[in-house]
Amino acid sequence: MITDAPPKPDEPAQAELLVERIERFTDDDLHSLCEATNAAILDGGGFGWIAAPSGRALEAYYRGVLLVPERVLFGARLNGHLVGSAHLVRPPRNNEAQAFAAHLMHAFVAPYARGHGLARALTLKVEEFARETGYQVLNLDVRETQEAAIQLYERLGYQRWGEHPEYALVRGKVIKGYYYAKRLRPRRGQTAE
Ligand SMILES: CC(C)(COP(=O)(O)OP(=O)(O)OC[C@H]1O[C@@H](n2cnc3c(N)ncnc32)[C@H](O)[C@@H]1OP(=O)(O)O)[C@@H](O)C(=O)NCCC(=O)NCCS
Repeated sequence: MITDAPPKPDEPAQAELLVERIERFTDDDLHSLCEATNAAILDGGGFGWIAAPSGRALEAYYRGVLLVPERVLFGARLNGHLVGSAHLVRPPRNNEAQAFAAHLMHAFVAPYARGHGLARALTLKVEEFARETGYQVLNLDVRETQEAAIQLYERLGYQRWGEHPEYALVRGKVIKGYYYAKRLRPRRGQTAE
């Protein structure tokens, strides 16, 4: 938020929040995103990684994400620094029957940036992009242990349609998973609510 007057000493400064599509990295952005990813993995992960990879591997991973045509990367910024991200994953081009639906994957916000509404804004940004690109449905899945994410997605209107009893294996422990979907635009013949 832009304000003219500096905050008074006893007034906490307003956090500046931004979510956007990431198409290239500055060195600072890549560094911040790797730091955020590392912190979120150490905090318990939940978006794929179990153990934190080396900084070099993480940087190569994110540079690679930007090169994959089926992936679109979105970033969340707190006071200008990248502190979280999410991927929109398009269906493979041979999958004509499911060309109407995309996946939201690998969403996370670093522990030090949580509670500001960034994950909510990030999800809405991915939805907006998916809608504008012509997708009708957004799919996602979460571990049963990801309570914050479950609440986030259910509040945003994602419908749980199934569960997988052996969804993830984390340090020898089997974890159940939940599958969600959200219709982004009314089906032909239906009216918007
Ligand atoms: C889930 C996660 C992305 C939320 O990030 P965040 O930026 O703190 O979330 P927001 O501030 O945008 O909160 C949005 C909503 O999420 C839910 N939520 C967030 N943190 C929560 C918590 N600790 N407990 C319960 N619900 C929570 C709430 O519904 C919240 O809305 P409210 O503030 O109106 O109650 C973050 O906790 C995270 O990265 N977790 C680990 C990875 C993960 O679970 N990824 C998602 C699936 S791949």
